[in-house]
Amino acid sequence: AAFRFDPSTTPVDANDRAARLVDPGFGRVFTDHMAVIRYSEDKGWHDAAITARAPITVDPSIAVLHYAQEIFEGLKAYRLDDGGTALFRPDANARRFNNSARRLAMPELPEELFLESCRQLVTTERDWFPQVDGGALYLRPFMFASEAFLGVKPSSEYLYMVIASSVGSYWKGEARAVSIWVSQDYTRAAPGGTGEAKCGGNYAASLAAQQEAIRQGCDQVVFLDAVERRWVEELGGMNVFFVFDDGSMVTPPLTGTILPGITRDSILRIARDQGIEVREELYGIDQWRADAGSGRLTEAFACGTAAVVTPIGEVVGPDGRFTIGGGGTGQLTQRMLDALSAIQRGRAPDPHGWLQRL
Ligand code: COI
Repeated sequence: AAFRFDPSTTPVDANDRAARLVDPGFGRVFTDHMAVIRYSEDKGWHDAAITARAPITVDPSIAVLHYAQEIFEGLKAYRLDDGGTALFRPDANARRFNNSARRLAMPELPEELFLESCRQLVTTERDWFPQVDGGALYLRPFMFASEAFLGVKPSSEYLYMVIASSVGSYWKGEARAVSIWVSQDYTRAAPGGTGEAKCGGNYAASLAAQQEAIRQGCDQVVFLDAVERRWVEELGGMNVFFVFDDGSMVTPPLTGTILPGITRDSILRIARDQGIEVREELYGIDQWRADAGSGRLTEAFACGTAAVVTPIGEVVGPDGRFTIGGGGTGQLTQRMLDALSAIQRGRAPDPHGWLQRL
């Protein structure tokens, strides 16, 4: 695919860029360019370009603003220890993007176009890798319905874009275990809904519960299943793992209401490669509390592209508060984080071919 290249005439100058990269946090520092591809029913995918990152002007009636026909992805490009750069499992994001597209009645994007848009943008923005610990270039591919029409039907036009953000840690302040609020009034996704699609609507639906978590003094919300209000599903934007005193791990199965995380899948494979027993099985909130109390559960952690691997120290549930293990970072949690990071930085063998060098 040929991407037209319209370089920015006003890129951020080197000094300013360096200042922004000192402590970038998450999702606030953006690079100079973006990728854009247009879709219309008559032309299909066309007009692929890398252009200056700039505001876009849209008609106030476009479908996404009214009916939320939108999907997105999140993936990282890493600077490797040997000085190279690589994308981590972008093919998995390309596949999931098309699974999401089908669920939202949107056109699929040929995987090669998805991959090429990411590669071209990272190559263009190679000076935007932050040097901070855990730093990366976070890519946010997304697609939205851009037809100007108020009828409720799949749009006949779409815009696909990729923006890039220089990121450090997802969490503010120094690394620490997070606390989790168990949402009782709200669920995230019901059977037959859009839970396994990466669509903006799922995140919109999580916000009131996340707000409640903050009011309760917690960092993050965790959702239970919508039918029995019993099984632990996932956090607002991360999957969850449980670690037991026999050294085994559990993560909720992909039943259709859970986002199939690529970090989740990577940890499953790393754990199995290391001979750790991991089960994808339902785990109830009452069991969680009982196991934390008895010491059978020793660790729990959240994982995602943005959050990487983050220990869960405390849970605030329907029957009050409980602490997991010592409330800090457990051994297996640290081991998973280290093993994953080592592969992502090209510091360890990559037996599954997850790194795609640029
Ligand atoms: C990611 O981990 O990349 C996500 O999309 C989740 C969001 C909380 C940033």
